[in-house]
Amino acid sequence: MHQIAVLAGDGIGREIVPEAVAVLETVAAKYHYSLEFRTGLVSEDAYEKYGHPLPPATLELCRNSEAVLLGAVGSPKMDQLPPELRPERAALLPLRKELGLFANLRPVKVYDPLIGASTLKPEAVQGINILILRELTGGLYFGPKKRERLADGSEQALDTLVYSTPEIERIGRLAFSAARARRGKLVSVDKANVLESSRLWRETMVRLAPEYPEVDLSHMYVDNCAMQLVRWPGQFDVIVTENTFGDILSDQASMLAGSLGMLPSASLGGKVALYEPSHGSAPDIAGKDLANPLATILSAAMMLRHSFGLEEGARAIEAAVAQVLDDGFRTPDLMTEGMTRVGTQAMGREVRIRIA
Ligand code: NAD
Ligand code: IPM
Ligand code: MN
Repeated sequence: MHQIAVLAGDGIGREIVPEAVAVLETVAAKYHYSLEFRTGLVSEDAYEKYGHPLPPATLELCRNSEAVLLGAVGSPKMDQLPPELRPERAALLPLRKELGLFANLRPVKVYDPLIGASTLKPEAVQGINILILRELTGGLYFGPKKRERLADGSEQALDTLVYSTPEIERIGRLAFSAARARRGKLVSVDKANVLESSRLWRETMVRLAPEYPEVDLSHMYVDNCAMQLVRWPGQFDVIVTENTFGDILSDQASMLAGSLGMLPSASLGGKVALYEPSHGSAPDIAGKDLANPLATILSAAMMLRHSFGLEEGARAIEAAVAQVLDDGFRTPDLMTEGMTRVGTQAMGREVRIRIA
């Protein structure tokens, strides 16, 4: 029996997570997996009931499960709260930190039927398969922060970008191993021409390299990487980078695949792993059956693979997603001429039909 904590969160999280759960149930029925779903409250719902976006009960539920499926957090209502109670800072980051999830895998795969959905030229995006490995529990998000009033009455705010050697080594080793298991190309992205933390990052990556002779390591400044991702994405296999750079580059890279709604993620490193789409709660389309559930559904496939070792089920989900796209079904974010427009629920249903 595999226990899965299910935290839908805010906005479209409430629409896409039920679709992913239903897909997992379909896979479980087909392959006789035993999955137990245990619902937890996070962000708005949790704040209303317990006065905190990540109440101890939710954290405990996650700690006592094998994996966590998360939608997204953040809403106009929660934006009104002081920073220390906002769900991005008070729920999502502590959840990642408490569970020790230092490695965030964001695979950017371009499905052939979606080549035309990208804003880039077909020849640039065809066949793209990039793994972005984002460090997730260090850097600016977790370094000392401060806000203070200066003598002249103005304000000053401070975020600190901190990385230690062990923190870089552990994500670095994972990146080398991932590259070794793929096409053997690793690009480490930093800003070593300016940032001290990036110098340590680069030196550490260089020091690890001899342990992985099969991997071709190169380095790229983050500004150049942002440009190269849209100039010639085919040059990339695995990209490893620090927290903030990875956040930004992965949103950008998602458009190679046609939509942010196609980018799943797995956060690994501790006993319990967390699976969530790379996107947010999308308040602009929430509650309207417009959201693309595929990033979350593909995150569920990553859960079967990485947490439970259920490769067959993971592949069944991925194959069903490919088939649905091949059959022309599109949520509005992916819509192009001649395709069949569907909502969140219909998209989930089409995936389930193809699995069953
Ligand atoms: P967002 O990712 O929620 O949305 C960005 C744009 O992409 C929007 O136009 C949205 O409609 C679209 N989009 C996102 N996911 C989509 C999907 N599945 N299908 C179709 N379209 C989709 O980012 P944002 O608007 O900058 O932030 C909204 C809220 O989400 C904020 O409160 C932010 O803090 C939060 N957020 C949370 C997470 C998370 O929980 N992991 C991640 C990012 C943002
Ligand atoms: C993401 C999000 C989060 C991040 C925010 C909401 C804290 O953008 O998961 O990519 O920056 O990690
Ligand atoms: Mn992000």
